[in-house]
Amino acid sequence: METLRKKILNKAGLYYSLARSGNFAAQGLLLPFVTYLATGTSRAQPKEFKAHLGELLLRIKSIHEKDFENIKNGLYPVEVLYPESILKHALRYPQVLLDAFRAAQRRDKKSAHEFSDEANEYLADLPEYYKRNFHFQTGGYLSKVSAELYEHQVEILFSGAADAMRRLIIPPMKIHFEGEDGEGLHFLELASGTGRLTRSLALAFPKAKITCVDLSPMYLAKARERLKDFKNINFVQGAGEKLTFKPKTFNAVVSCFLFHELPMAVREKVLAESLRCLKPMGFLGLVDSIQKNDDQEFQWALKQFPLDFHEPFYKNYVQHPMETQLELLGLKNVQTEVGFLSKAVSGIKA
Ligand SMILES: C[S@@+](CC[C@H](N)C(=O)[O-])C[C@H]1O[C@@H](n2cnc3c(N)ncnc32)[C@H](O)[C@@H]1O
Repeated sequence: METLRKKILNKAGLYYSLARSGNFAAQGLLLPFVTYLATGTSRAQPKEFKAHLGELLLRIKSIHEKDFENIKNGLYPVEVLYPESILKHALRYPQVLLDAFRAAQRRDKKSAHEFSDEANEYLADLPEYYKRNFHFQTGGYLSKVSAELYEHQVEILFSGAADAMRRLIIPPMKIHFEGEDGEGLHFLELASGTGRLTRSLALAFPKAKITCVDLSPMYLAKARERLKDFKNINFVQGAGEKLTFKPKTFNAVVSCFLFHELPMAVREKVLAESLRCLKPMGFLGLVDSIQKNDDQEFQWALKQFPLDFHEPFYKNYVQHPMETQLELLGLKNVQTEVGFLSKAVSGIKA
């Protein structure tokens, strides 16, 4: 009895993550129906989805197992798993469905450049490649509503595995900084969005200073609100390819789900700017979608993603391994860790 109790307690975090994944996957089941209501046509899942469903489920389980192992090994604390209020979560779901309805209409019309007055105020100062409704979502990254819904939508897309994928970058960082709590370290997070990776980083390195940069004022505002209890995080609106920091400022520059949304030339500029701002022996890391050749099992998903979501630079992104780009920049110790549909790539500045 005692052993069974210990086993359950020992795995409680894992069971919680699996249940959370079940919840988001179940929420996703309504989306085809919403699409049908919005467009009058049902979008059939690609045949590969059914054929690979079992493997998809196994990979979700496996990334949660890895995530929980990292918690048990002290790479980050169990607080990374703390749930949000159930009421807030439940009240947001109808809004997520409404946005899925609008996104389906936009997908149907192939319309990805609709902005509200709220967004129009900012458009003139933003780069061209960014002025679009990424994922066909309402407002692109430029509305308060989109900032509120974004994390929930991403978790539905990845059946509750998005946070675990984001955290893939923390173990190599912890190893590089020799398990430190972040005392005296200054990290830069590019494209921090609503601060989902930021929160895990702040918990893993409680004494580090973290500067978050993002182009979206609305997403930065949401991150500021959600992370108000963390005192050593600051927020700067700006572009990853035009950083205003002095050379050699940061001990680490990281990002999550940024590079697949950039044209190739901008990807290169962001990497060059990251390197400029990084101290010698600094850590450069990113989490993003797997690319061609990373996982033969999911080649079909790489083709499907830009058909379902407005992601104009994705096809080019999957062809150009991030590892090669880091190596071409002279980074040492370039490493990759694949987990479910994402990978963490990192290297050290010489
Ligand atoms: C897919 S979201 C990822 C957000 C967050 N990192 C996460 O893990 O959820 C992409 C983010 O990149 C930001 N972004 C896109 N291009 C950028 C650029 N050139 N410089 C800074 N931020 C950018 C967007 O505003 C958005 O918040």
